[in-house]
Amino acid sequence: DGNTMDNTMGNIIGSTMQGLKLLVTAAGTREPIDPVRYIGNRSSGKMGYAIAEAAARLGAEVTLISGPSALQPPAGVEFFGVESAREMRQLVQEKFPACDIVIKAAAVADYRVKNVSDQKIKKNDAELTLVLEKNPDILKELGEMKQPHQTLVGFAAETQNLLQYAKGKLEKKNLDMIVANDVSKPQAGFNVDTNLIKLLKRDGSIEELPLMSKKELAYIILDRVMKLRK
Ligand code: PMT
Repeated sequence: DGNTMDNTMGNIIGSTMQGLKLLVTAAGTREPIDPVRYIGNRSSGKMGYAIAEAAARLGAEVTLISGPSALQPPAGVEFFGVESAREMRQLVQEKFPACDIVIKAAAVADYRVKNVSDQKIKKNDAELTLVLEKNPDILKELGEMKQPHQTLVGFAAETQNLLQYAKGKLEKKNLDMIVANDVSKPQAGFNVDTNLIKLLKRDGSIEELPLMSKKELAYIILDRVMKLRK
């Protein structure tokens, strides 16, 4: 249960997160097509909610901004539900200046539908073309706004060239750490209880972790964040 997890994992972290403000994003965004349809992805929110819950248990003041998810927001967490990438961006930017640590586990849609239909699209033709346009990269914008006291952590969900792409994102988005998950593995990534991750830091170090539950990994990720801040 939660308390047992707290006791074991509290030792890993070795310090509390009291006095720190943490912002976590979770789950996938939904990009509308028409009033009843959307483009989405398979992110369940499990990874991000686990981080929010662990941080709250360790005493941090946690804000969770989430796309649609079947999960209950963890106890003691300030919660905001959003739908699209642009809604997420607006709230994240509003909350960012007051935060010490930001962890972006959300699967944000890279593209949105250019001309969202006011009415439900009728099935008239054999083919239907949707034109997509690029969404803002929320994390990259935060990397540009980041102040020295702030620690910025991103995720990289890759199906190939995991380390190379993750390293690219770490640098391009000005992150302190990136959590690289190989989402081509069956027990890792989207919509499962476990994950297989590598932690890449600015000093070039790479820490490879074995297959573990997202709940355990949440504490390990927070532990490494706290060590970065020392
Ligand atoms: O929710 P679960 O089912 O538990 O699954 C967890 C997860 C696989 C979704 C999670 O572990 C994960 O990898 N999340 C990031 C998914 C993702 O969108 O990765 P990316 O490589 O496309 O994006 C890189 C980083 O930039 C991410 O931190 C993402 O939040 C951020 N991003 C991406 C695009 C965009 N427009 N804005 C962003 O902020």
